[in-house]
Amino acid sequence: MSFERVDFAQLDSADRALIDAARAARANASAPYSGFCVGAAVRTGSGKIVPGCNVEIASYSLTCCAERVAVFSAVSDGERAIEAVAVICPGQVPTAPCGACRQVLSEFGSDMTVWMATEDYVVERVSLAELFPASLVPDEVIAAIRARHASS
Ligand code: THU
Repeated sequence: MSFERVDFAQLDSADRALIDAARAARANASAPYSGFCVGAAVRTGSGKIVPGCNVEIASYSLTCCAERVAVFSAVSDGERAIEAVAVICPGQVPTAPCGACRQVLSEFGSDMTVWMATEDYVVERVSLAELFPASLVPDEVIAAIRARHASS
């Protein structure tokens, strides 16, 4: 797996803006149980940047990760294509999105860049295709459901 360490200052302004939006979103994280505050942001095909933060719920499994909050917010804003996502987690080392978020991300961009960063701008880049090579493919699910309906 190639997590490429990059110099934030060398990135183009759109990528810096995406990472900074994720960094800002971290301030809104609601993580009273874990204390692990996460910020995310997605950049859509139309160039819009949409932030998200993790939201923890007392019934723990209802918690939603920052990446999924950002994706759902973008979709509810009328966006369907996501070209890049940035995630900022606590700690000294960039942290990759969890498996559930990888699936959600994969359904909105087959050629997505994933930026991972720390609060101190240790930044790494990886493609979603490399991070999550064997996703559940929506078209295959739809085809199977249609076939089942057609045969009943
Ligand atoms: N979390 C995220 O928001 N994104 C990730 O990629 C990893 C985990 C959140 C979920 C939970 O609120 C807290 O971090 C601890 O797992």
